[in-house]
Amino acid sequence: MNKLMAANWKMHKTIKEAEATASELLDLLSGKLPEDRDVLIIPPFTALKAAADILLTRLGYSVGAQNLYPEEKGAFTGEISPSMIKEAGGRFALAGHSERRHVMGEPDDFVGKKVGFGLSHGLAMILCIGETIDERKAGEVEDVLKRHLDTGLAEVPADVNAEEIVVAYEPVWAIGTGEVAKPSDIVEAHGFVRKELEEKFGPKGNAIRILYGGSVKPDNATEIMGLDNVDGVLVGGASLQADSFSKIVTA
Ligand code: 13P
Repeated sequence: MNKLMAANWKMHKTIKEAEATASELLDLLSGKLPEDRDVLIIPPFTALKAAADILLTRLGYSVGAQNLYPEEKGAFTGEISPSMIKEAGGRFALAGHSERRHVMGEPDDFVGKKVGFGLSHGLAMILCIGETIDERKAGEVEDVLKRHLDTGLAEVPADVNAEEIVVAYEPVWAIGTGEVAKPSDIVEAHGFVRKELEEKFGPKGNAIRILYGGSVKPDNATEIMGLDNVDGVLVGGASLQADSFSKIVTA
């Protein structure tokens, strides 16, 4: 399966700014994407359609949403459903990003609901998992990853298509800090996630993509992409400029 090079724009970019960055990506990446790579851009909801109109229509890149609510419609002020995301051109959605777990206080079982609901309503889902620095210092990395995987994948059917589910390992202490995890930390965590995926899904667990996220930059992307069980990256800060993200995508 192709490597997945994903940009999480978080709460950055108006529609106009998103269009400008998408157009720059179009210029920088047209005809230059390695054959074994897919690109995914995850803008704020308001810019989903604008990004899809340029990147999906003209480059064939996927676009995704940063969150969803696990209901089809209803009195859920401030929330957004899978069908709204899909109509805007979204193919993927994130669930369980550390900012949603730690800033918005989203509990593990709610993350699992979102993953199951998104999948059953036609979206490919990216489950984000990862430990805080205190959990790492306390030697709890595998416990946290196991809990995030068990709860986050609880509603994923055994016959899921491996392309429809992605796990992103994002150690909380490496997000937006410039402090990238050591290659040995990444290999260890991804190896553990792979083993858990194989236990849950059998041989198919080997085909499910595991992304690394946390201070990925043009100058460390090649090394990270070369590590065992790294099937792509989920990039925050360095994805906001077309120039640096295109360097990561082709690293
Ligand atoms: P940074 O690349 O800014 O560390 O963010 C990573 C992230 O949270 C992607 O989802």
